[in-house]
Amino acid sequence: MQIFLDTANVDEISRAAAMGLVDGVTTNPSLMAKETGDPREILASIAETVSGDVSAEVLSTDTAGMVAEGRELATIAPNIIIKCPLTPDGLRAVRELKEEGIRVNVTLCFSVPQALFAAKAGAYIVSPFVGRLDDISAPGMQLIADIREVYDNYGFATQILVASIRNPLHVVEAARLGADIATMPAKVLDLLIRHPLTDIGLERFLKDWEAARVT
Ligand code: E4P
Repeated sequence: MQIFLDTANVDEISRAAAMGLVDGVTTNPSLMAKETGDPREILASIAETVSGDVSAEVLSTDTAGMVAEGRELATIAPNIIIKCPLTPDGLRAVRELKEEGIRVNVTLCFSVPQALFAAKAGAYIVSPFVGRLDDISAPGMQLIADIREVYDNYGFATQILVASIRNPLHVVEAARLGADIATMPAKVLDLLIRHPLTDIGLERFLKDWEAARVT
């Protein structure tokens, strides 16, 4: 399973990339709005920091606008992929952009039929938002299991990207279910790396070593 960071903060991405842990990055308008500077330059520097896919989201809501923005964003770097919302206009944009060789991540997916239609439209990635489903008492991870089953039934190549991850268990479950990608905030990545027994074990090793040197 590929690990993506869900942020537009270049420092956060650089720190995680230095550990060799970041396969790609997802951004969205809310994440971009938190950063200062020219959005195009921010995306360019993210695309330079990681070698994998970097999702850049369109702001238009009509097909023509999404296609125009998608074409523009795709010129930033070869690893920029375009994020379009899962709406009728968005699905039309997916088809048009795909015909031009531009890869699309279809975002804001909340149901199996939506995911099926994204795949049929030619999505490169579909992004089901598990945390936002959990927030309304709907089981987010069940949606991942269902989409995996449906995609496998028909051999769709669209990658399942688990989005809106809020905790380490979402990531573990995503891997168990065979999701292709999990995107997460830096905070969750950090929680996944750390274990209290690792810290306790390390402290004990160092103490034992020091004690032996003193006696
Ligand atoms: C994914 O591509 C989205 O940017 C993201 O995961 C949304 O997460 P949120 O529901 O925590 O805002």
